[in-house]
Amino acid sequence: MDHKKPRVTSIETKHMKERDSLLRALHNLDRRSFMKVSAAAAGVVAAKGLLPPHTFQPVTVAHAQPGGEPAFRLAYISDSHLYERDVNDRFVNALMRAVDDVNAMDPQPDFVLYGGDLAQLGKAKELELGAQILKNLKAPVRMMVGEHDWFLDMGDKWRELFGEPTYSFDHKGVHFVVLNSILEKDFWTARKMTPEQRMLTVAGLDNGVQSRFMVGDEQRAWLARDLAPVAATTPVIVFSHSPLYKLYEPWNFWTDDAEQVQATLRRFRAATVIHGHTHQLLTNRIGNISFHGMLSTAWPWPYAPEGLPPLTIQMGRPDPFNPHDGCGDGSLAIHPDGLVDKIYGLWNRNPVTITRNYTASQGKKDRPDIPQRRSY
Ligand SMILES: [Fe+2]
Ligand SMILES: [Fe+2]
Repeated sequence: MDHKKPRVTSIETKHMKERDSLLRALHNLDRRSFMKVSAAAAGVVAAKGLLPPHTFQPVTVAHAQPGGEPAFRLAYISDSHLYERDVNDRFVNALMRAVDDVNAMDPQPDFVLYGGDLAQLGKAKELELGAQILKNLKAPVRMMVGEHDWFLDMGDKWRELFGEPTYSFDHKGVHFVVLNSILEKDFWTARKMTPEQRMLTVAGLDNGVQSRFMVGDEQRAWLARDLAPVAATTPVIVFSHSPLYKLYEPWNFWTDDAEQVQATLRRFRAATVIHGHTHQLLTNRIGNISFHGMLSTAWPWPYAPEGLPPLTIQMGRPDPFNPHDGCGDGSLAIHPDGLVDKIYGLWNRNPVTITRNYTASQGKKDRPDIPQRRSY
């Protein structure tokens, strides 16, 4: 009798081996081992028969929009909600997948926006893990902070890793502003909460204890000073974690001083706000300002139960049996007129491009198709 081991490895064995090598490599996640790690992550996904390893190719095809070539492109990754790696490796895999997607873009984006909520509970190890993974992006990264990164130590670790959360810069004729829009009124001191209790309260969202997100007096004054010398004809793009409008208060799909921030942007010919936090396709236009939500790499949210901005192309409820459905990453095409095409690279569905013509015409032109689930 032949006692030799079978030469064909079962799918399960292969999956477990790949998963082990992924976890081993995670213990030393430098740039060299990352290539192995992300290959293993893609292998795990492929072994489960879920998805192709790279999903950015169809997005590139979707870029071919009428109305001329963009001046430049950005990529975005947002809301990864990382736990420490021995608690949950699924979200780690998802963030690495997004890094793979962006690294596969050809040509490379001018920079990558990280949209906040890198960590789940603001722990140093969560933020450090996220920083390590994001180091593997080939393009430069611009960071934005989310409430899950902030309320354990009020941003101390985040600042140590990434610098100040409020800043601006100019790039190819566009003025970019990054805000910390997740400030809250002090609900913790009077209640004698520990930092952990404060963090868990904010992470709980719908609890009636925390206050609404806000940009706050100090930062709004900074914004007014920052924008004062910028000509009205200069395109302005603002990155904020929460939407800079009021959609659904109980989940903080909301910024309390949104109207005041909008008023500061009112005089610009082309103003765009790109936000995280909502984890879904979400489009709005208020006056001259277009607002676009970003996809998350973890936890797609349901839509707010009290109605959506009419321009929103709804993505439908994620498939609960597919952990990547409803998640993804994406890019922005910035046109010479300063208006923006927003591309949603959904991992399990066809990509959706919200063109500048669609938003500027209040939905009368270029209505995109609804994102369909991939059949498999
Ligand atoms: Fe989030
Ligand atoms: Fe958030």
